[in-house]
Amino acid sequence: MEKYDYSDKLITVDDALKMVKSGDEIATGLAIGVAKGFMSQLHTIADKVTDVRVNASLCIEPYEFLVNPRYSKSFMTETWFLTPPLRKARDLGACSYMPCHLQYCAKKRVVYRTPDIFIGTASMPDRNGFVTLSLSNSHEIELLNASKIKILEINPNYPAMYGDHLLHVRDVDYLIEQDYHPPVYPDSQPNEKDMIIGKLIADKINDGDCIQLGIGGIPDAVAASLYGKKDLGVHTELFTTGMMKLAKAGVITNAKKNLNNHRAVTAFVMGTEELYEYVTDNPSIMVCASSYTNNPDIIRQNDNMVSINTSLEVDVTGQCCSESIGSKQFSGTGGQTDTAAGAQLSKNGKSFIALYSTAMVKNPKTGEKEEISKIVSQLKPGAIVSLTRNDLDYLVTEYGIVRVKGLSVADRVEKIISIAHPKFRQKLWDEAYEYGIIWHRPEL
Ligand code: COA
Repeated sequence: MEKYDYSDKLITVDDALKMVKSGDEIATGLAIGVAKGFMSQLHTIADKVTDVRVNASLCIEPYEFLVNPRYSKSFMTETWFLTPPLRKARDLGACSYMPCHLQYCAKKRVVYRTPDIFIGTASMPDRNGFVTLSLSNSHEIELLNASKIKILEINPNYPAMYGDHLLHVRDVDYLIEQDYHPPVYPDSQPNEKDMIIGKLIADKINDGDCIQLGIGGIPDAVAASLYGKKDLGVHTELFTTGMMKLAKAGVITNAKKNLNNHRAVTAFVMGTEELYEYVTDNPSIMVCASSYTNNPDIIRQNDNMVSINTSLEVDVTGQCCSESIGSKQFSGTGGQTDTAAGAQLSKNGKSFIALYSTAMVKNPKTGEKEEISKIVSQLKPGAIVSLTRNDLDYLVTEYGIVRVKGLSVADRVEKIISIAHPKFRQKLWDEAYEYGIIWHRPEL
């Protein structure tokens, strides 16, 4: 079979770096979709440019331009989801958060400005010259289409995937050949608390339900608790290793989905090497723009939709702070609100926020780690409410599961405190009374 000739599009990373001008905005893909060849060399032009904006989210790798203070003056990263390297850049004053729901991460940004350069990752051109944006399309195709210069790092280790991110090499300006591997996100080992929470949620999931799972130990534990269910479907923003295992075991079949029947839909894929192998040329998984996957009007079209996400701090009325510690941005809203809203609009849909009842955090005065309640009477000053109390459905800790949808504040306080860690319950009642949230309090 003859190879498609794309040699006239080929450039090097150095050629691409020469295109960057002071004041430019460079956008790249999400997480595994970050153009690693270019981003790992971006710092080398630091003394030639000033005020370059980099639109990058969920970066897994600690690129020099992000984490090295020498380059902070040349590059300002703007992100809608922080990870450790982006938190480092935040602390250097070189990263600022872009508030948005995942479904709007491209749409709202282009209202403000369009990228001068989009540089993303793609599968190798096939014999007809087609590439796909491979493992991620949360915002990629929309920002690529809006950008002035369009560059793709084509890579045999980035699988060709089904979805709405198909392009022809004619649609882009330049191609760079690469052979790095997509970053691996290891399979987490759920602990005892994760397994209790996972089981509480799994008990509410029925055969034929369609699930969305977030990232981390709790969602992975939910996945691990779903063996024994039948014909589950997936409509999610992140396709995980846990989902792959369920699909391989025949638990996820997507056979009962009203929309995209027999196919899982996701905005991006992140996990183990086995997962990347599984999704290669796999027609049962579609990678679609988050403006589709996370649009509540789309999500609702599957009956029995179940969304499962986590939070950092929840108050006794149900306000969920899932992205900041006080006023300091920790991660991002991501699709938490989109998926909770979509699931609750779906016929028989349910939405879960799950968290441990406590966290071990450093006391700023003593420097010692101490156990605090993640359920609080009032969120920390400046805490960002990712999911409002109006949109909370089920709340879960290792002490139980409560449904707060439709409940008055007084009833919510009672239910939510009932799943706080027992040693903090009386304090929560006392504070809720003191702050005028409730008018009666029990003595426990
Ligand atoms: N107060 C202060 N610190 C807290 C805290 C609290 N109430 N709760 C947790 N922390 C600290 C932890 O101690 C931990 O600190 P460390 O990094 O020093 O160990 C850190 O915050 C992270 O907590 P953890 O519970 O380990 O977070 P996680 O990695 O499981 O992520 C979220 C949880 C909520 C941050 C993450 O799921 C998220 O960003 N969600 C919002 C977006 C979303 O849901 N999108 C949809 C699905 S992809």
